[in-house]
Amino acid sequence: MIILGIETSCDETAISIVDTAEINGVFGVKILANEILSQIDLHRQYGGVFPMLAKREHAKNLVPLFLKALSNAQMLKTAPLNTEKTETEYSVYSNILKNIGIDERREPLLWENFFSEIPKIQKPKIDLIAVTEGPGLEPALWTGINFAKALSEIWKIPLTPINHMEGHIFASLLNENVQIAESPNYTISKQKPTPQPETVIHNSSFLIHTPRFPAIALLVSGGHTELIKMDNWFKYELIGSTRDDAVGEAFDKVARILGLPYPGGPEISRLAANWRESGKKGTGITLPRPMINSDDFDFSFSGIKTAVLYLTKKLGNLTSDLKEEIAAEFETAAVETLVAKTKKALTESDAKSLIVGGGVAANKFLRSSLKLMCENQNVDLFISQIAHSTDNALMIATAAAFREQKQVKTEKKEMKAIGNLTISNV
Ligand code: KG4
Ligand code: ZN
Repeated sequence: MIILGIETSCDETAISIVDTAEINGVFGVKILANEILSQIDLHRQYGGVFPMLAKREHAKNLVPLFLKALSNAQMLKTAPLNTEKTETEYSVYSNILKNIGIDERREPLLWENFFSEIPKIQKPKIDLIAVTEGPGLEPALWTGINFAKALSEIWKIPLTPINHMEGHIFASLLNENVQIAESPNYTISKQKPTPQPETVIHNSSFLIHTPRFPAIALLVSGGHTELIKMDNWFKYELIGSTRDDAVGEAFDKVARILGLPYPGGPEISRLAANWRESGKKGTGITLPRPMINSDDFDFSFSGIKTAVLYLTKKLGNLTSDLKEEIAAEFETAAVETLVAKTKKALTESDAKSLIVGGGVAANKFLRSSLKLMCENQNVDLFISQIAHSTDNALMIATAAAFREQKQVKTEKKEMKAIGNLTISNV
């Protein structure tokens, strides 16, 4: 079964095409194409993601990225040119698009791109379209959903909504040790006017790990910090979340205070690693670990960020050593808090597995700290590959593939963007 995944919940426009695979009864996906166009360079100048700018970029880039994905998957075929037929098709297309709410007024860029390219190609052999319905930035989500709806209507391909957080869980369950096919075209790129991403070759197929249940999922990104209990496949209970800033947001804000570029996570991490490697003694800076001992599974990160702000004001001129020391102490405080609450969730749920995903899962200090804790707790750890930690569409296609396999479909009367969708509603 061939599945098209579409992800536009934040500042990455992503398209993936996967085929389902099975080896010795274990289910997996074969990546035919996996395209990610990051808008980070564009948002960097504003120090964060601007929803309407993100939407415009998705609208501009979805169609070219989709064509590129089809081409990489060797599924791009030009439709035979026939003026009469094309004209009728245009009016059919126009009516379909208007019926689902894509018109020149609401989605001018998407409308224009769709019309100029999609009628020129043959219907590809795609069996299912999966699109992120939330959580995320609603204007950005809508563009992906409208595009998915349009393809679904025009080519009569079934459409399924996927929860972005469930996607992150599946990204963490892709078994990196089992690669069963040749290299596909797999690209990750920086923002460019037209998508011409550099190509990074990866092995193409992944089996999906079956964690021992109950499992705990820790999802950490720029928008979320969540602890989810999973009693079985698709049985999610949100047991803890942040009361204020998400952990990735705190990384980004602290980076800004220290004068580092957006996104701050990798920058803070780099400075913190320098500091630890240097072995320097430092000035003994300590930051709080808010809620670390509270009797629940919730988090709070804005207090650490505020403490950094006061500290830097007090210190005045920040030398590069001081910046590194603050970055290291901030990273330690954030990671210690995440590890402590995760450990409490694992113990109290008697969990056998820990699944970790989301952009902040790329943090090496967090990865090594969680690994150590899981070894001590005798818990299996499933953590996403760094390349699959940040937003991508492979995770959306994989979640849809697995739902198909288990015949657990997301039933929805009407597909719409749900910015604050929680995983318990899936
Ligand atoms: O999952 P993601 O790509 O997008 C959201 O859904 O938010 O996560 C992006 C977040 C940003 O806040 C970024 O600073 C953070 O992940 N991040 C990191 C690292 N790499 C990305 N945070 C800490 N350490 C990293 N190495
Ligand atoms: Zn995400």
